[in-house]
Formats: sequence, structure tokens, C-alpha cells
Amino acid sequence: MVLDFAAAYDQLNPDDDDYRFYAALADELGVTRVIDLGCGTGTLTRLLASRGRAAVGIDPDPDMIRVARQRSGGEHVDWRLGFSDCADTGSADFAVMSGHVAQVFRDDDAWSRTLRDLHRALLPNGTLTFESRNPGAHAWEQWTRQATLRTLDTVEGPVEFWHETAWVSLPLVAYDTFTRNPRTGEQAANRDILAFRDVPVLVDSLETAGFSVSHQYGDWQRTPLSPGSREIILVAHRRS
Ligand SMILES: C[S@@+](CC[C@H](N)C(=O)[O-])C[C@H]1O[C@@H](n2cnc3c(N)ncnc32)[C@H](O)[C@@H]1O
Repeated sequence: MVLDFAAAYDQLNPDDDDYRFYAALADELGVTRVIDLGCGTGTLTRLLASRGRAAVGIDPDPDMIRVARQRSGGEHVDWRLGFSDCADTGSADFAVMSGHVAQVFRDDDAWSRTLRDLHRALLPNGTLTFESRNPGAHAWEQWTRQATLRTLDTVEGPVEFWHETAWVSLPLVAYDTFTRNPRTGEQAANRDILAFRDVPVLVDSLETAGFSVSHQYGDWQRTPLSPGSREIILVAHRRS
């Protein structure tokens, strides 16, 4: 059994509070050229482009980019298969990483390089915004079969899908994603490792890369960040 994860991604992530938060921010700031790094299937990228903005969606996963291109509205986006280094210098006034992309950079050098690339890609005073799960909220404790089990409709019929935390060694957390065909009993697992950086580390990394943090929120309703907030949502501006 092979689950086409990219095709199933939107079914697995139906909530759009995050996309609405970032789209409202872009509207308020009046930005005209955006970069969506780690755009995945491109739901946010297409939303940002739908208001007549120039939008670049970058992702290293060819399956994600394939699905993004096929979605309605995808023709208005400049999709790029690659990493942050393929963002053009001085090309944007708004850069975003949604869907906890910031946590895929588990090694600090890769994270710093990514921030430097986005600094280079942004115009002076351009905005960088992203979210990262707050280590203080211990999200990994909820990643059990019981709490995360869902059944997806796929071309091969229903497929069960769930997460289980494998190990925690902060700031790193490893978790397995399981898929199982209930008809055949066939099962597969894939391991990912995420970085749970805390607020001081994230703010320091942004300052070092040449950004100033203007806002810190704890949820998509713009509640101020507190130690137990689920999310760390940061809005930063390129200093010069
Ligand atoms: C959970 S998805 C989020 C997708 C999208 N931003 C969203 O909000 O739905 C994480 C994405 O990060 C991408 N990714 C993984 N490593 C990356 C890297 N080094 N640079 C940029 N994106 C990366 C993955 O391919 C995947 O599409």
C-alpha cells in the first residue's frame, strides 16, 4: 500500500485558521510580492496570489509541488522546486513559512542559513512570519494512536493514518507516521524529526540573521504568547 501523502495532505489538514491569519496580515501590510517557503500543496500561496500579488511557492518535495501546480489558481504562482536559496535577492516584501515548516530545520546551521536566505530575498523592512510549536505545550504527548487516528478516503479505499511519538530529546522530537489498510492489514511507517525551539532561541536566531521581531502571538486569534501557548507565532521585519 502506498499512500500518496501529497494528494492526501489537504484532507489531513482541513483547518485554515493559520492561512487566514497570514492572509489577513499580508492584507494589513499591503504587501505585493510574497514568498511561501515550504509551500507544500500551496493552499496559502494560492490564497496570497488570489489578491493580485506576485507569489513564489518554494518546496523541495516534487510531489507537493506537483499537487500545488494542479490545484485551481496554481497557474498564478511561480512554483519552484528547491530550498530557500532559490529565492531571488530583493524580490519580496513578505515571506512566510506555514504548517510548522520552521521545525523541519533540526540542525541550527540549516535554520540560520534559511533565515539568511530569506533576509537576502526580502526588501528592507520586508516581513518574515512563521509559527513553531511551543515546547512548553508538550504537543508530542498528544501524538498517540488513540488521539491522532483518522481514516482517509484514497483511490485504494480507506486508509488509517496516525502519529506516535518515538523519542523526545529536546529540542528534538522524533515521531512516526503510520498508515494501515484496514482491508488487507498492510501497514507502513515513516519517521520524522522536528526541532522545538523556544522563544528566546527563535528570537535570537532572527536577530542574528538581521530581523527585528515586532509581534509574538500564542494562537491564530492573536492572543499574546504565554508559557503554555500551543504555538509561537512570530512577525519580524528585515532591519536593513
Ligand atoms: C507540514 S508541510 C507544510 C506545507 C505548507 N506550508 C502548509 O502550510 O500546509 C511542511 C513542508 O515543508 C517542506 N520542507 C521540508 N524540508 C524543507 C526545507 N529544507 N526547506 C523548505 N521546505 C521544506 C516539505 O516538503 C513540506 O511540504
